Amino acid sequence: MKLTIDDVRSRFIEHFDGSTGSVYTAPGRINLIGEHTDYNDGFVFPGAVQQCIIAELKQNGTRTVRAYSIDLKDYTEFCLDDEKGPNATWARYIFGVCREMMALGVPVQGFNTAFAGDVPLGAGMSSSAALESAFAFALNDIWGGNKIEKMELARVGQRTEHKYVGCNCGIMDQFASVHGKAGSLMRLDCRSGEFSYFPWNPKGYKLVLINSCVKHELVGSPYNDRRKSCENVAAVINKHFPEVKSLRDASYEQLDAVRAEVSEEDAKRAHYVIGERERVLGVCKALEAGDYETVGKLMYETHHGLSEEYEVSCEELDYLNDLAKEAGVTGSRIMGGGFGGCTINLVSEELYDNFIKTVYQNYPQKFGKKPIVIDVVIGDGARKLI
Ligand code: GLA
Repeated sequence: MKLTIDDVRSRFIEHFDGSTGSVYTAPGRINLIGEHTDYNDGFVFPGAVQQCIIAELKQNGTRTVRAYSIDLKDYTEFCLDDEKGPNATWARYIFGVCREMMALGVPVQGFNTAFAGDVPLGAGMSSSAALESAFAFALNDIWGGNKIEKMELARVGQRTEHKYVGCNCGIMDQFASVHGKAGSLMRLDCRSGEFSYFPWNPKGYKLVLINSCVKHELVGSPYNDRRKSCENVAAVINKHFPEVKSLRDASYEQLDAVRAEVSEEDAKRAHYVIGERERVLGVCKALEAGDYETVGKLMYETHHGLSEEYEVSCEELDYLNDLAKEAGVTGSRIMGGGFGGCTINLVSEELYDNFIKTVYQNYPQKFGKKPIVIDVVIGDGARKLI
């Protein structure tokens, strides 16, 4: 069931002094293609989804934030002037956003808040970016006079991940959560910050996520190691080809030229990233021509690269990818950081029912757990609800 304002408001009233505040929302995201390219200054192709975080906030006249997570039934308080912040990870996201907004000069005051979400946790749909974006948007509205630009709000979320949670993520998730527009995907150049909306109306096809229900946590996962590998290779290439500032600028030939100076593993990671840059551009071209078969083919290639070269897949995700291929699905791949979570599938309408049936039948037989099917509806970005 879709999360509603009332699900949050009723708990806010119950948990605090009976009064109401303002309600904000920010969504999770999908990504059509362009995985692990954002922190390499490359291109990504995300869209916001309808699954979201909803948060109610009200000033409480103190320097303390009193926060209640409705889903986790967990309550915590922290002082805005405290450097260390709370222990619970969910609360650290809120703390980080407060501190980063304050660092931008927003005179944040203490508030009461309750929030809930229907973005599945650990599914690669960016539940944490949704949380950060909802609070960044809210604080900007309540105390910042909406003066901070959207891209900077996204960066507040990203810095929160880096500095308060320990995940050295790129900008894609927070960007998508803040800038999303119903019915449109977005192509973002992660170096310049330029982006454009692509109306997403694939006649005859559907986008569907299959959640493997293998929970992924980017914090503490080899995500940061992957980023490090990319930076290592970019630095070595830069010594020989100074125009190469990051892997976005590198070619296969340049990679080959430095193979002796980088580890085999790092070279494999870089090979994936260079290929992914080309695939995103290929998808853009194919979309303009309405050529979904090529889009799908490139999605399969991305999966292969993520699994064999970038090594962020797992048995369950590879199996889901194989099932898609066998069922004749147009395109399928791991979505998001990997190590679990969802596959994203581009399925022709006539094959859809059969594909879903196959997944429901075969996946539990093999892994003893049920997958979750999520039809993608592209929704709006962060905003005030009431
Ligand atoms: C996670 C990160 C993003 C991005 C993806 C992989 O979702 O938060 O910045 O790197 O993984 O594309």
